[in-house]
Amino acid sequence: MKLRSKDLLGLYDTTAEEIKLILDSASTMKQLLAQNAKKMPHLQGKSIVALFYEDSTRTRLSFELAAKFLGATFSNLGVSSSSVKKGETLLDTGKTIAAMETDVIIIRHPLGGAPKFLADNFPGSVINAGDGMHEHPTQALLDMFTMRERFGRLEDLKVSIIGDIYHSRVARSNVWGLTKMGAHVTLCGPQTLMPAAIEQMGVNVTCNLEHALRDADVVMGLRIQREMLQGVFLSTLREYHRYFGIHEDSIRLCKKDVLIMHPGPVNRGVELSSAVVDADNSVINEQVTNGVAVRMALLYLLTRKDDKR
Ligand code: CP
Repeated sequence: MKLRSKDLLGLYDTTAEEIKLILDSASTMKQLLAQNAKKMPHLQGKSIVALFYEDSTRTRLSFELAAKFLGATFSNLGVSSSSVKKGETLLDTGKTIAAMETDVIIIRHPLGGAPKFLADNFPGSVINAGDGMHEHPTQALLDMFTMRERFGRLEDLKVSIIGDIYHSRVARSNVWGLTKMGAHVTLCGPQTLMPAAIEQMGVNVTCNLEHALRDADVVMGLRIQREMLQGVFLSTLREYHRYFGIHEDSIRLCKKDVLIMHPGPVNRGVELSSAVVDADNSVINEQVTNGVAVRMALLYLLTRKDDKR
């Protein structure tokens, strides 16, 4: 089986079979990494460019490691020191990168839809590394990989996602992916950070943290974007933590073997208490580890498809 598209733009457009293919391939990549195989030939001769218009630690670095472990050439276009600063458009930037025989562009952009626009104008593969409030598909894939690895399945898992749902591309991609894979998703957060009619995505919605945590298999905190929210969507971070912060006592409401997740970066003491971040059932660092394997799998599957065209 192959991926249908040359690009990965979101999980809305990705089938359950394709998600399973990526997760299965990531399992193989993880096994290879466990054998210390960090110089493999799968992407030899391929050129990959990261085009990040927003800051990133995990996504950009894990894509770089994934590409290099598979033998590709990887280049980071530092947008803040590039001709984007002179006003070069996304289209012209994409054409310039294409003119250098690039096979894959990995893009993060503040505007939802920017990766799709680039993909429509670039002959190689485009991977969405986060676009505005729209999607962050590789984050959701690594989240699902982490859950599936721990529980052996995604079907019927009760996954509660807590925090700023309104601005979260991570939440949206997880909802599309998890519901396709048969999980039951509950979204919880302040009413001011809950999109209207979000139930139509096939999820439960609550503003009561206890309801969201009760019997959950997985609890995922989302980053509160301090710079955007305070005084507009939230009164204070202290008040947010009081009503929606996850701490050791509240975790007791969940299933005994609950997984604590967070896409990072975490604001300790806001979304999660420091004790919860470092608790035995926290898999936040494991998510980061799995991100490399998932991105290796994705790069391999997309470029393999490219070879067959
Ligand atoms: N989770 C995530 O996207 O982290 P970065 O912003 O560090 O890439």
